[in-house]
Amino acid sequence: MHTFTIVPQRSAPTAAPSDFREDILKGLTGTPKRLDSKYFYDAAGDRLFQEIMQVPEYYLTGCEMDILSNQTRDIIRAIRAHTGEFDLVELGAGDATKTRFLLRDLLDEGVDFTYFPVDISTNVIRSLEEYLPMELPALRYKGLNGEYFDMLQAAGALSRKHKVVLLMGANIGNFHPGEALQFCQAIRKQLQPGDLLLIGFDLKKDPHVILDAYNDRQGVTKAFNLNLLTRINRELSATFDLDDFEHFPTYDPLTGSCKSYLFSRRAHRVYIDGVPIDFQENEPVYMEISQKYSLQEADRMALSAGFYPITSFQDSRRWFADCLWGVE
Ligand code: AVJ
Repeated sequence: MHTFTIVPQRSAPTAAPSDFREDILKGLTGTPKRLDSKYFYDAAGDRLFQEIMQVPEYYLTGCEMDILSNQTRDIIRAIRAHTGEFDLVELGAGDATKTRFLLRDLLDEGVDFTYFPVDISTNVIRSLEEYLPMELPALRYKGLNGEYFDMLQAAGALSRKHKVVLLMGANIGNFHPGEALQFCQAIRKQLQPGDLLLIGFDLKKDPHVILDAYNDRQGVTKAFNLNLLTRINRELSATFDLDDFEHFPTYDPLTGSCKSYLFSRRAHRVYIDGVPIDFQENEPVYMEISQKYSLQEADRMALSAGFYPITSFQDSRRWFADCLWGVE
């Protein structure tokens, strides 16, 4: 069973500690060993991800910033052409850096809407509610703190209007393609004809560019992966020695799957909450997938999930796409 917890940008998921223990032990006693990337985002992980967004190799943030800062008028025109009166629901709003462009232009155009930022982190929602009115005094908004699907439902109860749902930041990439499709189908079930989804995809491109983004020279992505071992040491009194592991990202241009592993440099034993875990020399631990798509694959996903692709907005290098999907 998959639970659809997407990692919100710059925010910490609040899974119960017992879930954490159970998931980590299950992942490391199975074959092959794996850890769930949704657990990357503790306080230190949040900070490291913000650092990743600043390293020169990590192009994703700049691409989407390019789209949102230069094409909001076009995005708004496309939205207004395909729906009636609407409210905006952003899944995994984070600090809404990029969304602010969209909010500002919507207000400038006199569009009558409410913004519902959804995030699983209480802190994220609290700080949004603090600075949104300072920056955009005319904005009507209501922060929703919780899981995506519960909060999408909550927004539905609070608003009679059509929904324009935002899922930015290539967060969909942290799902395997099959899970991503299930996730989009589940969103579709919560929507009505006339609703829209704006969803970000990192596109297939020069494989070196992709691989470098997950293997930055400063080693921030490596530290980001290793930080999960530090978190396990702290929260589950485990005995990981970070020097025993190496960061190994891969990209397969055929499937578009960018995967990160930590592999054990030597055969050794680690204890997690008293449970012994044996590592072979060079044994990999599968950490994260960051799936890349072609525009055609994104369109196919729209259709398979019960949406229809309307249009897409790309950055100047065509490395990233924010796709607008409609519900019939
Ligand atoms: C937040 C899921 C978009 O997969 O590119 C960045 C997370 N992992 N570097 C991504 C991440 C390693 C990021 N997303």
